[in-house]
Amino acid sequence: MSATGRAFASRHLLGIEGLGADELVLLLDLGERFLELGERPIKKVPTLRGRTVINLFLEASTRTRTSFEIAAKRLSADAVNVSGSGSSTSKGESLLDTARNLVAMRPDVVVLRHQASGAAEFVARHVDAAVVNAGDGTHEHPTQALLDASTIRHHKGSIAGLEIAIVGDIEHSRVARSNLYALTRLGANVRLCAPFTMMPQGIESLAGDHRRQVSTHARLESALEGADVVMMLRIQRERMGDGPARFPTNREYSRHFGLSPRTVAFAKPDAILMHPGPINRGVEMDPTIADGPRSVVLEQVTRGVAIRMAVLYVLGTGGAVPSEFGSA
Ligand code: CP
Repeated sequence: MSATGRAFASRHLLGIEGLGADELVLLLDLGERFLELGERPIKKVPTLRGRTVINLFLEASTRTRTSFEIAAKRLSADAVNVSGSGSSTSKGESLLDTARNLVAMRPDVVVLRHQASGAAEFVARHVDAAVVNAGDGTHEHPTQALLDASTIRHHKGSIAGLEIAIVGDIEHSRVARSNLYALTRLGANVRLCAPFTMMPQGIESLAGDHRRQVSTHARLESALEGADVVMMLRIQRERMGDGPARFPTNREYSRHFGLSPRTVAFAKPDAILMHPGPINRGVEMDPTIADGPRSVVLEQVTRGVAIRMAVLYVLGTGGAVPSEFGSA
């Protein structure tokens, strides 16, 4: 496999915040090429043969963990999965000791999911392997934002100029933060919508120079009016602790902030409807919407494998970008 000359400069993928539009587009373009590989009868290339990827998932996951494992295997890397309940973290071993011991086995890439914001950056500072953030607390989930951008770009041709509504538990959502960085850098206008109890004050400032592309909405109707893309978020009860409830009941939440046949009518007729999963059906999304013709929820998952292949590829090979793929 030869390289095109485009290169990914970062040693780790800890978040979208540190990436420029060029790096985002590079990963999206590369993901598009790996997507094609997933349609072949033999879904494997020898690109990362001999490399080792450790998936260290210390917080629950279905989509991200599985797709990183499939992505590594499709690139012919050796993939090893470590989960919280089956590891010595359940005996009290610290994150740093766990990471140092795993890195002593000389993996090339460590993919980390952890409940603490900043965990991936902390590990990256202390180990000699490329680190990928697979979701850290309420901070970032960069590969989710990349697969979301990939899905949007596929359906809309370009991200620049789109009106994108992100609706739900903004306060606890690493998906919302990573998407805020990615989508504004790629030129979209982002409308954030949540009950005021789940909308952090001043969140627009996260977009930095792009903050004028961000608006906040306390009413779903105004966020959805004329939107090209509607991205619903999961209510993250596991991050709310024992504090006061953020909304009276699921029924109330659903009536005011859920995507239903009534509320979806405010968006453009060709708006695509997204959710990172897992969905609280009937709360964030009516099942007829989640399973309906404009839902791209499962396409997001398919693209997740291709995007994670792109990320493992650039980090596992030191940043080179392939011009063509061989076969295994
Ligand atoms: N979207 C997402 O991160 O899903 P999982 O928690 O199942 O990985």
